[in-house]
Amino acid sequence: MAEDLHKTDEPIDVPIVRITDLDFGYKGQSPVFHELSLTFKSNEKIGITGPNGSGKSTLFLVIMGFLEPEKGKVELFGAERRTENEFAEVRSDLGIVFQNSDDQLFSTSLLEDVAFGPINQGRSLKEAEAIARSEIDRFGLKGMENRTPQTLSEGEKRRAALAGVMAMSPKALLLDEPFTGLDEPSSMMLAEFLKTQAPPFILIDHNREHLESFCTRTLVLSNGKFTEPK
Ligand SMILES: Nc1ncnc2c1ncn2[C@@H]1O[C@H](COP(=O)(O)OP(=O)(O)OP(=O)(O)O)[C@@H](O)[C@H]1O
Ligand SMILES: [Mg+2]
Repeated sequence: MAEDLHKTDEPIDVPIVRITDLDFGYKGQSPVFHELSLTFKSNEKIGITGPNGSGKSTLFLVIMGFLEPEKGKVELFGAERRTENEFAEVRSDLGIVFQNSDDQLFSTSLLEDVAFGPINQGRSLKEAEAIARSEIDRFGLKGMENRTPQTLSEGEKRRAALAGVMAMSPKALLLDEPFTGLDEPSSMMLAEFLKTQAPPFILIDHNREHLESFCTRTLVLSNGKFTEPK
C-alpha cells in the first residue's frame, strides 16, 4: 500500500545533494570537517562563505567524489555515491567550476575545450560544436575559439570554464568563487546569468552582497561546521 503513494506522474523532488555527518581531513593534518551535513534542493540557490582555509573548496571536491570522506554519506540525485563509477554517472549533471580554472581547461583550443563535454555525452561533432559556439558567445568569448585556453587571461579562463560546464546542460552547478578576476562588465554578465538563467547552484563567495542578491540562503563554514550568517 505504502508504495502506491509514490506511483504518480510527478517526479519525486529528491535533493540534488545531501551530505550527512561528513568527516574529512587531508592526510597527516587536522580535520577539515566534523559531522558536516547539508541538503541542497532543486528550488535552492545556496551561498557558502567562510574564512580562507575553512574547507569550502574541499567540500566541493568531496561532493564531486574527487576526495573520499573518512565518515559520513554523500547522496547525489537521490542515491548514495561511494565508488568512482557511482560518482562518474552523475558528474555531467552536477557541473563544477573550480576555484582555479587551470584545473579544468586542458584542450588545445577554446572551442575544443567547450565541445569536449557534449562530445563525451554522445553528441555528434557538429552538434557539440554548435553548443560550444553558443556557450562561448553567451559568456562573451566570441572570437577566441581558436585560442589555447592556457593563454587566456584569468577572467577569460573563468568564463571559459563556465562555458564548458554549461555546454553539458547540467541540472545544478557548484561554483567556487566564480567572480574572482572578472572585470565589471563580466561580473555583470555573470550576475545576470545567476539571476535569470542558471540552474540551481551552490555558490562559494566572500562577497556578502553577491550572496544576498543571488542566493536563497547562505551558510558560513567555519571550524568544520556550518552556521547561519550573523
Ligand atoms: N591538497 C591538499 N593537501 C593538504 N592540505 C590541503 C589540500 N588542499 C587544501 N588543504 C588544506 O585544507 C584546508 C581547507 O582548504 P580549502 O582549500 O578547502 O579552503 P577554502 O575554504 O576553500 O579556502 P579559500 O577561501 O582560501 O579558497 C586548508 O587548511 C588547506 O591548507
Ligand atoms: Mg577555496
